[in-house]
Amino acid sequence: MNVLKRCLYGFSIVSLASMNIQCKSDKKVEETTTEAKATAVVTIEKSAYGTTPKGEKIDSYKLKNQKGMEVDIITYGGIISSLKVPNKAGKSEEVVLGFNSLEQYMKPNPYFGALIGRYGNRIAKGKFTLDGKEYALAINNDPNALHGGPEGFHRVVWTAEEAKSGDNASLKLKYVSKDLEEGYPGNLTVFVTYTLNNDNSLDVVYEATTDKKTVVNLTQHSYFNLSSDFSKPILDHEITIDADKLVPVAATLIPTGKLTDVTNTPFDFRKPKKVGLAIEAKDEQLKNGLGYDHCWVLNNQDKGDRFAASAYDAGSGRLLEVYTDQPGIQFYSGNFLDGTLPMRNGGTYARRTGFCLETQHYPDSPNQKDFPTTVLNPGENYKTKTSFKFSVK
Ligand code: GLA
Repeated sequence: MNVLKRCLYGFSIVSLASMNIQCKSDKKVEETTTEAKATAVVTIEKSAYGTTPKGEKIDSYKLKNQKGMEVDIITYGGIISSLKVPNKAGKSEEVVLGFNSLEQYMKPNPYFGALIGRYGNRIAKGKFTLDGKEYALAINNDPNALHGGPEGFHRVVWTAEEAKSGDNASLKLKYVSKDLEEGYPGNLTVFVTYTLNNDNSLDVVYEATTDKKTVVNLTQHSYFNLSSDFSKPILDHEITIDADKLVPVAATLIPTGKLTDVTNTPFDFRKPKKVGLAIEAKDEQLKNGLGYDHCWVLNNQDKGDRFAASAYDAGSGRLLEVYTDQPGIQFYSGNFLDGTLPMRNGGTYARRTGFCLETQHYPDSPNQKDFPTTVLNPGENYKTKTSFKFSVK
């Protein structure tokens, strides 16, 4: 209601004197609202994205700050469908691989932008035992279980709640995974909160509680290409990973159980190094992963939230720094992309045109007694945080 209308309304119900007060105070309300809008540093806007064949309405939320960063998140799979950040010339461009329709996201794809759960990465032969009881998961990555199963958390519909606090805007997603859904025990209530601040940082906070002992390892599966040119492989990106050790894998990408030193191997990213520099080297681990598809043992695990990894593209000047409280990070160089999936504006995503930095626990932890535990008990709160911080240099 504008000031004039409010004043007329006031006139019909109150005396002239009180109307005067009413008009003044309304003016104040309106000024405050306009002021609030002008100072809303990070905005969040909802729009309809599509409808699933089952009739579920999928929404998209755009978080946007005043520094040229924009993130689109859809309630299907909690997928980051678009992430735009400025280059060194100040031009905001797309830096994540994605599609332009819900229909395409619903077709089989390698987890583009999605939330991953209940267990990120592989569980050997899809089996694990808790308190003497063996649980069997779907074998969706022969002979192993991958990324929480065929539907996991990446092909389900999340409910969403918007929140604002200070200079940030958040989207809090919720999903309840039922007891024995995808084979995992316990009703698991999961919240994932995406928060954009005005410092070009996107925080992802994962929370979960269970009513039965279970295993949990949540992560985010965005594929980045900081050049914004998705026809180019990411081999020129310089990667840094703050890790002295690697979780080596056998042929089916299941950890051998040992942790090995990265010194003098293609896995030493303690100083910035181009992805392409050693990716074709003769190395058993690179052979097993068809390139980089490994979990690094992050340093300073006792420090909680800390620097984990970075990626830099000299052409655009974009730098992505990843901070986390997790013990590991899976650096995946997009080896399985095969030129079959459509880009947003024509063309297809070729091999190694995107990379993932998935903060997480080590693969197959439920079967590896020496790895940090991924068990969650009733009464415990699973809470972890990862930040993706963008800048230019
Ligand atoms: C993860 C895995 C890879 C691959 C991709 C999705 O990063 O480690 O082996 O499965 O997801 O294709």
